[in-house]
Amino acid sequence: MTQNNIFLIGLMGVGKTTIGKQLARNLGCEFIDSDHEIERRTGADIPWIFDIEGEPGFRERERIVIDDLTQKQGVVLATGGGAVLAPDNRQHLMARGMVVYLKASVEHLLQRTAFDRNRPLLQTDNPRQRLEELMDKRDPLYREIADFIVDTDNRSVSNSVKLIMKHFNKQY
Ligand code: S3P
Repeated sequence: MTQNNIFLIGLMGVGKTTIGKQLARNLGCEFIDSDHEIERRTGADIPWIFDIEGEPGFRERERIVIDDLTQKQGVVLATGGGAVLAPDNRQHLMARGMVVYLKASVEHLLQRTAFDRNRPLLQTDNPRQRLEELMDKRDPLYREIADFIVDTDNRSVSNSVKLIMKHFNKQY
């Protein structure tokens, strides 16, 4: 079983990259961000991919990257917020590592993503409504594949990392 990986899932702005980097540093393993990998392979940033190829084009790139990256060993992987939409991705994440759902309230996510120009799905007149819709649709999917859920509201990054490490060490 390839269970020595940690996969972070959750909505935009919850802190997957920040928490993932610290987690990887503490565990002494590699950190990978699937969005950065998509950008690296494409040679373009995410807003550009959405502009030119639309969300379906981005999701196809994401599907390939998630399949590749989840086959690695001993990594902490931060996934894009919509990675759980594709059944194939959910399957790979569940089967190939410990899945941690980082959860936060819409209020918190709104604060974290204010003035963000790199997230095409939030470039709308009403980001609150968009985040609420995404939460409604995705929360059940995150829960469906999560081995462990961390509520990050009112929790520091280092405290979230500590909780995840404790759970990881208990399991493996
Ligand atoms: C998306 C989240 C983004 C990125 C893309 C789409 C989403 O990643 O993959 O903009 O559908 O929620 P982060 O969750 O890292 O911001």
